[in-house]
Amino acid sequence: TTADAKTVVVTAAHMIDVLAGKRVDNPQVTIVDGRITAVGRKGDAVPAGAERVDLGERTLLPGLIDMHVHLTSDPTLSGYRQLEFTDNFWTVVGVANARRTLDAGFTTVRNVGSANYDDVALKQGIERGYVPGPRIVPATYALGATGGHCDATEFPPSIQVPHPQIANTPDEFRGAVRTIRKYGAEVVKVCMTGGVLSKTDSVGAQQISLAEIKAIVEEAHMLGMKVAVHAHGAEGINDALRAGVDTIEHASLADAESFKLAKVSGAWFDMDIYDDDYILAEGAKNGVFAESLEKERQVGLKQRQTFRAAHAAGVKMLFGTDGGVYPNGNNALQFAKMVEWGMTPIEAIQAATSSAAIALGRTADVGAIQPGRFGDLIAVEGDPLADVRQLEHPAFVMKGGAVVVAPK
Ligand code: ARG
Repeated sequence: TTADAKTVVVTAAHMIDVLAGKRVDNPQVTIVDGRITAVGRKGDAVPAGAERVDLGERTLLPGLIDMHVHLTSDPTLSGYRQLEFTDNFWTVVGVANARRTLDAGFTTVRNVGSANYDDVALKQGIERGYVPGPRIVPATYALGATGGHCDATEFPPSIQVPHPQIANTPDEFRGAVRTIRKYGAEVVKVCMTGGVLSKTDSVGAQQISLAEIKAIVEEAHMLGMKVAVHAHGAEGINDALRAGVDTIEHASLADAESFKLAKVSGAWFDMDIYDDDYILAEGAKNGVFAESLEKERQVGLKQRQTFRAAHAAGVKMLFGTDGGVYPNGNNALQFAKMVEWGMTPIEAIQAATSSAAIALGRTADVGAIQPGRFGDLIAVEGDPLADVRQLEHPAFVMKGGAVVVAPK
């Protein structure tokens, strides 16, 4: 500790120790120059000149991590409504959503798909202090096959949309991985099967071959990046798992074979089980394609049943919401769904903290209140282990030792 180091000492009545999986009393957390240096008890020595933040009766938790967001998307501008806006409009949307997401207690997000390297721009703006926002792990463009979920399939042939994310052979995918990494991708997102919000594909159908996904995984891992796979259907999920991918997004129609493969390979499931409620309630008035609403009716409930079965089977689970499909900032609404569909509150919290950090490969930085990691903290009024909905309105948010939301 140098003389001019910025030191903050945070105290509260309780803390959720996500690594031990339990609540502890009277925590005292010391943060020096943005990183945690000590986690002890109230009454421990406080460095001279430290700034004090006492959270009273509240419960401290690590800053939350959402493993699947699209900060540069707005669900109220769905379907053809997006065509009213210029390309860089979406970065502006991202600026607003980054603030909402951070204020909601999410201090780290994995942004798994955006056009024009918007997520890299946003990350750079946040890191340079121009705008507030979470730490971002950007994927840039989500890669996919011609006509697939990550292609723009809603236009006639005479309207051509630039598509740097599209590839159709193992070698083309290798090139695409290299290109997005060159421009800032830190994780590779791949659309392995059809999806809901795409207009013309079938939601469960595989779109990328085993040979292609193997090439992507090999290339990404060689370059030090993890692979996040959009997949609803079992065939696509299972080939992705056979290829050694790191996370399966959605996983709606995963079967017993998928659970077995995931447990063997150590892959995580990252299931956005809140979204069905939002899409069915708001989709039609938001401009979502009729075809997409029909596909949502096919997979929404099944996905929740698969979530329960996967968790019961012992598949490792993450907290990922697909923010942008519902309004960014409401991320924490998914906690109650995860508990409703089979998790305990501590499991849901670990999915959004300690487990997420492991899946990101960032346990040195985020995901727990532990010396060495960033001073990313939130606090809630009540006991989140008794009522996980406490996480829907954090009373306090700190990122890197700086107060973002001050307790009232
Ligand atoms: N981005 C996803 C897709 O279009 C959203 C799926 C939302 N629905 C759900 N039940 N999780 O496929």
